[in-house]
Amino acid sequence: ERKRYVLGIETSCDDTGAAVVDCSGNIIGESLNSQTSFHVEMGGIIPVLARDLHQANIEQVVKDAILQANMSLQDIDAIAITTEPGLAMSLEVGVQHAKELGRIYNKPVIPIHHMQAHALTVRMIQRLDFPFLVLLASGGHCLLTVAQDIDQFLNLGKHLDDSPGDTFDKVPRRLKIKNLKECQGLSGGASIELLAKRGDPNSFNNPSYLSHERNCNFSFSGMKEHFRHIIMKEEKKQGIEGGNILSNAADICASLQEGLFNHLSHRIRRGLLYTELKELLPSTNRTLVLSGGVASNMYIREKLEEVLESYDCQLICPPPKLCTDNGIMIAWNGMEKLLRGKDLIHGDEIDNIRYT
Ligand code: KG4
Ligand code: ZN
Repeated sequence: ERKRYVLGIETSCDDTGAAVVDCSGNIIGESLNSQTSFHVEMGGIIPVLARDLHQANIEQVVKDAILQANMSLQDIDAIAITTEPGLAMSLEVGVQHAKELGRIYNKPVIPIHHMQAHALTVRMIQRLDFPFLVLLASGGHCLLTVAQDIDQFLNLGKHLDDSPGDTFDKVPRRLKIKNLKECQGLSGGASIELLAKRGDPNSFNNPSYLSHERNCNFSFSGMKEHFRHIIMKEEKKQGIEGGNILSNAADICASLQEGLFNHLSHRIRRGLLYTELKELLPSTNRTLVLSGGVASNMYIREKLEEVLESYDCQLICPPPKLCTDNGIMIAWNGMEKLLRGKDLIHGDEIDNIRYT
């Protein structure tokens, strides 16, 4: 049988990504232009600037992915493009580009939901049948969902305020641990994980959040605030000023990481009880897929694995480069739809593709 190929394009936030995958889940070509360091310098994402950077890079990023695949656009079977959710100005750049390519090369265009693509990437690297549970924890979102089919998801809970990644980023900024040599070039989350290794996770108490709510939503703003107070108090106590770092920064990092783990774990356990009650997952051999930038955290992974054991639930974490935003997951989601003949938009209909 003839091999099939899908080009995927992602521009929903601050990464311009493109990739070509085949129907067996091989990555044939990939290219990614991350704007992260630029936005970090600006202190956050400015949509107009994100759009300009996507605009400046998209053509080359797509070309690079195709070139690496040793193909031309003629050989591609379909073009998958993120149409939701994301920053409207960023989405627009990718969608316009995909529409143009679709028209010029007369290829079907497949609209992709960014979060669904995150949730299903795991199926590219291993066989995993529906249904399974997914936790997406990143700088943009926290979402617990049951993946029931390639286009069927039952959302159990989502973040009500800040994301876990945001909490992992803001606290180290307050701690000024970027000034430590060993933390230079690391994301906030990665530097917390590193320092936490030599800290005591029980040195600062962690209140529980939403624990009485009978749902699986997440809240991180209270935790962020709680640690802001701890840091202020400690700075006063230790007479810290300027760029100096608290003597017990590692303890603070370890306690925060523990708090984040506890909250995630608590909501997941609630989700598992709910899925049991409603018979949404198999009664044995269940799976939780953990994805998003926070999934790189080995402490959280290992502790979660332990907790899940008593629920007869295995934990799967895709490799880090597939957990963060990229074109590969969009291409793969497009491939799954192509193979099922779902959501393919042809010819003049391509003009009607919208983004939100
Ligand atoms: O999915 P992602 O790459 O991008 C967006 O959400 O846009 O997630 C990025 C987040 C950042 O907040 C970063 O601090 C966090 O993932 N992160 C980590 C670790 N590595 C990255 N959080 C905890 N532990 C880590 N090792
Ligand atoms: Zn994402």
